Amino acid sequence: MITATAPGKLYIAGEYAVVTPGYPAILVAVDRTVTVTLTPPQATTGTITSDQNKRARVTWQTTPNGTITTTPAAHPFPYVTAALEMVLRLAQERGLEIRPANLHVTSTLDDAAGKKYGLGSSAAVTVATVKAAARYYHLALTKTALFKLAAVAAYRVQGNGSLGDVAASTFGSWLAYQTCDREWLMKTANRVSVSQLITMEWPQLKITPLTPPPALQLLVGWTGTPASTANLVAQMDHHRVKAAYQQFLTASRQCVNAMIRAFQSGDLPAIQHQLAVNRTLLTKLAAVSGINIETPTLTRLVEIACRLGAQAKSSGAGGGDCGIALADRHAPETSRIAAAWQATGITPLALHVYAEEEHQ
Ligand code: PMV
Ligand code: MG
Repeated sequence: MITATAPGKLYIAGEYAVVTPGYPAILVAVDRTVTVTLTPPQATTGTITSDQNKRARVTWQTTPNGTITTTPAAHPFPYVTAALEMVLRLAQERGLEIRPANLHVTSTLDDAAGKKYGLGSSAAVTVATVKAAARYYHLALTKTALFKLAAVAAYRVQGNGSLGDVAASTFGSWLAYQTCDREWLMKTANRVSVSQLITMEWPQLKITPLTPPPALQLLVGWTGTPASTANLVAQMDHHRVKAAYQQFLTASRQCVNAMIRAFQSGDLPAIQHQLAVNRTLLTKLAAVSGINIETPTLTRLVEIACRLGAQAKSSGAGGGDCGIALADRHAPETSRIAAAWQATGITPLALHVYAEEEHQ
């Protein structure tokens, strides 16, 4: 039996801008995870099952050209099969034996009642599947190779987004992220072998680990409203031609780069200042595009955190999901933020940063 786990994530800054190659974001991996288990089946076909979707049971088989066929053809595990396909193609290229496997998915990313917090379950399940399947088929992968396989799989399913969530799920902890040109990526992925794809340079891709100052405390509040990132990103696409969007991109890059430098010099007040700047930029973007990024609940979350000495903003695409606050853990009112959120109907989530090294 082979098991692998991958964490969920939260965006700290740089959302929307990061969809464009060359524009950075900062993310953090959190200790809500997806675990994928592979066991050898009795039969010649494998299965895919999940604790989150108890009624679905999918069987899968490889075809001679290296793709996977499933029964039923339409099923709720597209990220799992896309991830599996990448690993199987690589295993075939390396001349390894393709054995069937039963895959089982468990998750602590959503709550027990199936509420979605928006912590990046698609990316986490993709990364966990690649990681577990690579072990099952005896493929030693570097973290960068793992990221690249999962990124192609995730993009083939979702068709938009920066893949920053895949990076956070792969590398863990805090990181600065810049996406590659995904049009180039999809063309290249269809043209070259998987082995070539994971060893070649991906233009503009940049993943840099960050170390937070010891006093930095991350607080997360859940609004109770789920949001669809894919829809919001698709809607925002229509506004990219506007001059105001270009101004947003430039200002976001300046802000996030200043925040990255503040991480590197351990300057917590400067990190917090740039968080507030990024919030303002996203608020302006919302006004320009008409897309509701900071909902009234998120505004409340931010105002409460600010009143108690922290800085805060929406996280990710917004429109619901979670907001984050960055506080000084020694500041007198930091410990009051969670209760103050709770008192107005915002659910504080007891999340911690997920460091990959601790979970090897
Ligand atoms: O809503 P989330 O946490 O999945 O974040 C989306 C962030 C965007 O920049 C808006 C989209 C993306 O793929 O980077
Ligand atoms: Mg979201």
